[in-house]
Amino acid sequence: MPTSLDTYFDQFRREFALPDGVIYLDGNSLGALPRLSSVRVADAVRREWGNDLIRSWNSADWINAPERVGNKIAKLIGANDGEVVACDSTSINLFKALLSALALIPHDSPRNVIVSDIDNFPTDLYIAQGLRELLRDRKLELRFVKRTEIPANISAQTAIVMLTEVDYRTGERYDMKAITALAHDNGALIIWDLAHSAGAFPVALNACDADFAVGCGYKYLNGGPGAPAFIFGATRHLDALDAMNAPAPISGWFAHAAPFAFDPVFRVVRGAKRFLVGTPPILQLASLEASLDLWLNVDLQRIREQSLALTDLFIAEVETHCGDALTLATPREHKLRGSQVSFRHVEGYAIMQNLIARGVIGDFRAPDILRFGFTPLYVTREDVVNAAKHLADILATREWDQPKYQQKHAVT
Ligand SMILES: Cc1ncc(COP(=O)(O)O)c(C=O)c1O
Repeated sequence: MPTSLDTYFDQFRREFALPDGVIYLDGNSLGALPRLSSVRVADAVRREWGNDLIRSWNSADWINAPERVGNKIAKLIGANDGEVVACDSTSINLFKALLSALALIPHDSPRNVIVSDIDNFPTDLYIAQGLRELLRDRKLELRFVKRTEIPANISAQTAIVMLTEVDYRTGERYDMKAITALAHDNGALIIWDLAHSAGAFPVALNACDADFAVGCGYKYLNGGPGAPAFIFGATRHLDALDAMNAPAPISGWFAHAAPFAFDPVFRVVRGAKRFLVGTPPILQLASLEASLDLWLNVDLQRIREQSLALTDLFIAEVETHCGDALTLATPREHKLRGSQVSFRHVEGYAIMQNLIARGVIGDFRAPDILRFGFTPLYVTREDVVNAAKHLADILATREWDQPKYQQKHAVT
């Protein structure tokens, strides 16, 4: 029997162009294509670019796209207008967020430690390592520790806590409010990576008093491959950076107060535009904005309710039909869960290749994680039940145990 939530989400599923015969459980890696995105991108190509040419910077308001799109993302992550811009990649935005946070901490402060989770997405850890080398005179110390050791490592030496809210492998979620409060109680700033949060459930950055945040546009936000990421700075920090006349983290011309004055001297713009660097990717922004226009009609509380219903159902179906062949890596407790379910199996790679060959698309993360993302906008309960049936059948018959499904290289 369909629930009222199933009925509510039917209207959104129709808005996505999903291929027949595919159960798509990888929207946590690359979101599906909204029908409106094809229309908007075609229009941006043919009319705005093809016909209106360079005039579109004004007539189609291309010039303000990073802020306009950022303001739409702000509504999904509990931020205010003017606090978010859509630009660059998450990695680059994290670099900018780290530099901005460091700009707020006096050079001679004894706080020099950046605390993060050793299981954080590697790019986050790499960016911090690169920054430590670039800013040698700040003598930054990186303390990457296990999740359970994070609270004990936040101290009077901590400059910045840098965490991804939902773990990309296990789907385990941090308590944003509690960890942010702990960082602040110790006088530190916090940067949240929302790659697996934005569009997965309602995020409440300002209600949690977050300082900076970054995240991807191509996962749950369905912006398309390579879609711009986003960066958030709390108004109090943007104002403080303005008051200090702090340099832009990357002083490209889009962070200039008057980019079209072509002044040889850099003067930083006020507000979140300080995070911009160069010419925005207009076609990618058109695609992302089309998806966000759909998102703005979605009730985020219902997204969370349905996400928990789908993930609970998947766990129950897999555990009922696959016995103890798989080990659940995702917490059962709702408040510790994002919108994905992960199971461990030593042959996880081959099993996932086998599932994909059957049209059930999830992904594999080394060393042994089978990862399934649940996006209520286009994943139904029927999909969940059928995906679990395929998985059970593959395991029971050992269909995965064939050379064509074995790992050839590390990339999935
Ligand atoms: C948590 C997290 N942060 C950052 C990234 C990378 O983002 P980008 O490729 O936009 O730099 C990913 C990609 O999957 C991710 O999962």
